[in-house]
Amino acid sequence: MLILNNNDRRPLHVRLYDQIKNQILSGKLPPHSKLPSIRQLSSELSISRNTVEYTYEQLNTEGFIYSKPQSGYYISSLNQEFIPCPSQDPLTSKQPFEDEKPCSFDFHPAALAPDSFPSKVWRKLLNECLQKNTEQLTLYSNPQGEIELRCMIQQYLERFRGVSCNPEQIVVCCGLQDNLSVIAQILRGTHSVLAIEDPGHWIPRSVFLSYSFFINPIPVTSDGISLNSLTKTNSMAVYVTPSHQFPLGNVMPVENRLKLIHWAQTVEGVIIEDDYDSELRYHGKPIPALQGLHPGGNIIYIGTFSKVLSPALRISYMVLPYRFLSIYHNLFRNYASTVSLLEQKVLYEFMKQGYWEKHLRKMRTMYKKKHDALIRSIESHFGDRAKILGQGAGLHVVLELTNSRFNENDLITRAREKDVRVLPISDTYQSNNQYPPRVLLGFGSMSPDELDKGIELLSQAWEI
Ligand SMILES: Cc1ncc(COP(=O)(O)O)c(C=O)c1O
Repeated sequence: MLILNNNDRRPLHVRLYDQIKNQILSGKLPPHSKLPSIRQLSSELSISRNTVEYTYEQLNTEGFIYSKPQSGYYISSLNQEFIPCPSQDPLTSKQPFEDEKPCSFDFHPAALAPDSFPSKVWRKLLNECLQKNTEQLTLYSNPQGEIELRCMIQQYLERFRGVSCNPEQIVVCCGLQDNLSVIAQILRGTHSVLAIEDPGHWIPRSVFLSYSFFINPIPVTSDGISLNSLTKTNSMAVYVTPSHQFPLGNVMPVENRLKLIHWAQTVEGVIIEDDYDSELRYHGKPIPALQGLHPGGNIIYIGTFSKVLSPALRISYMVLPYRFLSIYHNLFRNYASTVSLLEQKVLYEFMKQGYWEKHLRKMRTMYKKKHDALIRSIESHFGDRAKILGQGAGLHVVLELTNSRFNENDLITRAREKDVRVLPISDTYQSNNQYPPRVLLGFGSMSPDELDKGIELLSQAWEI
């Protein structure tokens, strides 16, 4: 039976065509069965004869149906072997994130403050850039990123992160996965065994696996990745977050940094340093990047604008050691930049005119207030029922419950019942290590009052 869905806004003939085609492919209309006549179907569906005729003609031309003179239209016999199995309709299948409904109190670890994006300045700069660069916008941009933007990034890295490099070593990318897929293509011929932190971010594992790397998960200690374990593996490259380990928040002390560099020199290995949120350190001075300890070594440095400016902009960058630059140029010579030229221009002006540094200072002050409020709330609502791991930097901490009878799943479900969203830490683990119940608590998107209310609700939800 053919029924036209009135909520479907597409033209009638397209809807009718889809219905008949899908019924043929799914076998509901068997081969050689007769279709209703044009007159009959047009009156059944209350549509014009022209529409039915046009649709039948189209199906006939494509071979889904055939016509018999003086008799009408019939379903073609298609070889069932070649008909693809129907895949689940993504709109009707169960969504993996079905229960990811927004909660009133959202502790997502990567969310920024809702009103933090400098829209007014950005709009002004965007307008200026549109006026100044109309001609350039009709062309492809520099595949490596605009040189003027790379110069700004280089100056920033040198001043604020202790990274030593030249603009020609910088590649502008559209986020961590883009950085890593470029790196994977550079390294896969020579360094295809990669060590990653365990626990650690899930993206490096996914990206490198898709380029057929062999992955060695290495435990994380309070001093960052375990060098003892690393040196026992056959790894040729290692991905680390030494200035604020994700997710546990540990800082790798300089002694271990030097040992890691020594390891890389000994095995002719490569260190991939992800310095994703090190601008946001709230007590004491920022921890300089590992790259600065050995700028001429095999250290690929990665940074992002996602933590301080916006994760939606999708702008990140990396610094390639000179020895990988020619490989990069050979591999990517014919590629186009993955980042919009217009956004690069605006970001360049944003940095050049001093807005970036101002914004950075403002964000650090604001997130410090939120961070301190979160710590106070946890201490006051949980007391010795919880331990805080990785405080003092970034946009999240890890909350570990002491003597809790709940497992991680219980914690998340019970929180959700109170309209609070917390994220599991188990997603960051490769191994099935036994550790006390823990969750990730991001504090970027809520005000101090909201944080306090959210923590109070969690404390009630997880009461023993
Ligand atoms: C460990 C780590 N690296 C990098 C990033 C930034 O990724 P992107 O630049 O793709 O936004 C994040 C974001 O949360 C992160 O947690």
